[in-house]
Amino acid sequence: MNDFIKYLLEVDRKPLAFERYTADILWDDSHISKKMLEYHLNQSTELASRNEAFITKSADFIAKTFQLEKGDRLIDFGCGPGLYTSRFAEKGLEVTGVDFSRNSISYAKEDALRKHLDIEYICSNYLSFNSLKEHDMALLIYCDYCPLSKEQRKTLLHNIYQSLHQGAYFLLDVFTEKAYLKREGVTRSGKNLMNGFWAESDYYCFVNSFSYDDEKVFLDKYTVFTDEKVFEVYNWLKYFTVDEISSELKESGFKVLDFYGDVTGKPYHEDTEVVAIACMKE
Ligand SMILES: C[S@@+](CC[C@H](N)C(=O)[O-])C[C@H]1O[C@@H](n2cnc3c(N)ncnc32)[C@H](O)[C@@H]1O
Repeated sequence: MNDFIKYLLEVDRKPLAFERYTADILWDDSHISKKMLEYHLNQSTELASRNEAFITKSADFIAKTFQLEKGDRLIDFGCGPGLYTSRFAEKGLEVTGVDFSRNSISYAKEDALRKHLDIEYICSNYLSFNSLKEHDMALLIYCDYCPLSKEQRKTLLHNIYQSLHQGAYFLLDVFTEKAYLKREGVTRSGKNLMNGFWAESDYYCFVNSFSYDDEKVFLDKYTVFTDEKVFEVYNWLKYFTVDEISSELKESGFKVLDFYGDVTGKPYHEDTEVVAIACMKE
């Protein structure tokens, strides 16, 4: 069987849930990360970050609800280009942002300089990041918990836990089972699919979706053929019940305090597609 047929067979293969982790390609590839940054900053799409009005409302809600005061320390895991961190620094907090996208961190640093904000940015994979400081509050926003396997989630919660002092707060949001029920499989392919998102040169891209009903996991698998290489990006999303996310947080030493319909404090009800969970390090 020639290589081309082998590649095509691989395109169609349903992998085991969380078989491969390719988040570094999705967020840190030199070309893709530039496209991602455009998405983060583009107000007409919410593919990478939510819109500015939402983020401002969310930062105000968080500061008020967790009674954050000038000088309090906040750490944002997966801070991207610093859309939340800059808002908290403007409120006088001592802020740290962690992200492994070199392009986003470089933008965030320039943005802080432009705005005369003193923010510590750390370019690191949060699955292997150990904070040297203890903080009053940690954030993990825009469902960044969902692309991770159970083992990775445990590792990340451990890293977040050790970045906080006792009694400090942690807020995260995750997709719910309701959102899982609405997911539809897409299988499509084409030249330069997604307007050149995947490579600078011409390419051919296949998108295959797979669902894992037992685990409530969904995968969009992208296979990209360029002149130089073939690469795959596995975009996993795990959807949670309130009980499931609560028990993972409790197992990692957090006390669950409250549920919201999103990180602006919208009320949570059974039909919301996102749940934000406020918790505390015990
Ligand atoms: C969906 S975006 C959300 C960004 C930001 N929280 C916001 O809402 O504007 C996810 C972010 O997490 C970062 N990220 C994903 N996996 C990561 C990892 N393992 N280590 C560090 N950063 C990661 C990405 O680079 C990206 O900036």
